[in-house]
Amino acid sequence: MKKTKRILALLLTVIMLCTGSMSVSAVTQPTSQEAWNSYWTTADEEISAAVMLTPGSDDSERYVSWYSESDSGSVVLLDGEGAKIDEFTATAIKTHQGDYRLCAVIDSLEDGASYGYYCTSGGWTSETYSFTTISENRFTAMYLTDIHISADKFPENSIRDTAYNFNLMLETGVAKALSQGKSIDLVISAGDQASDGMRDEYKGLVANRYIRSIPFATTVGNHDKKSADYRYFTHQPNTADMNMRSYVGTDYWFVKGDVLFLIMDSNNTSVTDHRRFVKKAVEANEDVKWRVAVFHHDLYSARIPSRESENALLRLMWAPIADEFGLDLCLLGHSHYYTISNVLYNNKTVEATENGGKVTDAEGTVYMVSGSVNNPRNDDDVGLSDNIGHEYLTDEKIYNLIDFSEDSIVINSYTVESDENIGSLTIEKTSNEGGHNYKTIGRLYYPIVSVIGFIANFFTNIGDYYDNRQLGFKIPLFEGLFG
Ligand SMILES: [Fe+2]
Ligand SMILES: [Fe+2]
Repeated sequence: MKKTKRILALLLTVIMLCTGSMSVSAVTQPTSQEAWNSYWTTADEEISAAVMLTPGSDDSERYVSWYSESDSGSVVLLDGEGAKIDEFTATAIKTHQGDYRLCAVIDSLEDGASYGYYCTSGGWTSETYSFTTISENRFTAMYLTDIHISADKFPENSIRDTAYNFNLMLETGVAKALSQGKSIDLVISAGDQASDGMRDEYKGLVANRYIRSIPFATTVGNHDKKSADYRYFTHQPNTADMNMRSYVGTDYWFVKGDVLFLIMDSNNTSVTDHRRFVKKAVEANEDVKWRVAVFHHDLYSARIPSRESENALLRLMWAPIADEFGLDLCLLGHSHYYTISNVLYNNKTVEATENGGKVTDAEGTVYMVSGSVNNPRNDDDVGLSDNIGHEYLTDEKIYNLIDFSEDSIVINSYTVESDENIGSLTIEKTSNEGGHNYKTIGRLYYPIVSVIGFIANFFTNIGDYYDNRQLGFKIPLFEGLFG
C-alpha cells in the first residue's frame, strides 16, 4: 500500500513539474536564460516575497517563510486535489529593514502524500505551490554548495544571472532524478548561498520554483554573514541555544527517513557549543540509524595552501565530534573543490574509498565537498592530502544526488554542462545502531580546544559584528566560554 502511494506521489510530482498545472504554481517554468529573464521582470511581487520551504522536525512538518509588510499572515494547506485542509498562523520577525519575515509551521502531514499550499498576508496571496512527503524511509537529497548568488559577479543583472545558474542546476538535478524514477525530496546547501549576505541575493536564491516545493536545508557560510539578512531569512526546527554565535545563524537538526541531519554553523568556532548540540540531538534520536552533518568549512582538501593552517584548526575542532558521535557522513563546502575523503577516524585513513566503490560498516566518517555553483575553481597546482579518496577538477557546475535508505547511503555526482557522472560512493551499514561502528567516549581536550575556539571566534567574527553594530547587535564574546 505504501509503495503504491509513493509511486502515485512520484507520478503526481512528475506531472506537476512537467506541466505546471493543477494546484501547482502558475509561474511559468523558466528553462532558458531568455525565459528566466522574462520571469524575472514579470514576477517581481513573487520574487520579493521570497517564499521558502524548509524542513520541519521530521517529514510530517514543513516550515514556510516569506517577507511581508504586514506582521500577520498564514499558510493555507491544500490536499492533492486543491481542497483546503487547514490553515496555519505565521509568527513574525521584524527585519532590520522594518518589514517582517513571516514563518508558519505546517504539521500533521501524512507519509507518501501530496499537498498544495499558499501564503497570505496583508492582502497579498502567493501562487499555489505543491510538495510531497516521503514513505518507507527512502528519499533522495540533492546536495550542492557555495551557490554564491552575487550582486557583483557580473557588471549587469548579476543577481538575476547567478540565480539563473542555480535554477539551471536545480532543473538539471530534478530532470536527472526523474530519469532515474526518483524525485528530489530535499535540497542541502553547505553554505555561502550569497556572496555578500544581502537580502536581494537571498531573494534571487529562492526565486526558482523548486525551493517552494522541495525543503531547502541551508547552513551559514563565511559569505552569508557579511551582512545581517540571513538572520531573518530562514527558519528551522530544533535550533540550538549557543553561548557563542556568528550572529546570523545557529545549529539545528531534523530527521528525514532514517537520517538525523545535524546542520551546523562552522563560523562559530565554539567547539563545546557544537558538541553539546550534537550530543543533545543524538540523545533525542538514538534510534535513527544514519547521522549526517552539514557545515561550511572544508577540512581535508588542501588545494588552497593559504588555508591549511585554518583547516588544521578546524580539524582539531570538528573531527573529534565526528569521531565521538559516530557521524557517518559530513557534507561540506568552502574550498569549491570536489572531493570525497577516505573513511577517516582521528584525522587518519582507516579505510580507503575509491570512485564507484562501497564501504560496509565503516569505522569512521566520510567527508565530502562539492564544487561551487557560480564560482567553480580549477587550479591544479597543489596536490591533495592523503586522506582524499576521490577528486574531480572541472570548470563545470557539480551537483550530487544522494539516495538515503535504511541500509545505505548512495552518492552520485554529476556535471551540469556535460552531464557526466563524475563520482560515486556507497556507504552501507548492516547494523541498526546509530552512527558508525567505532566511537570514543569523549575527549579530555575539549576544554583546551574550546579556549582555542574562543580566540578563533573573536578573530573570525569581530569584523562582521563591527560592520553591523549599527543594527544593534551585541558582541557576546565572553558568554559561557566552557558551555
Ligand atoms: Fe564559497
Ligand atoms: Fe566559504
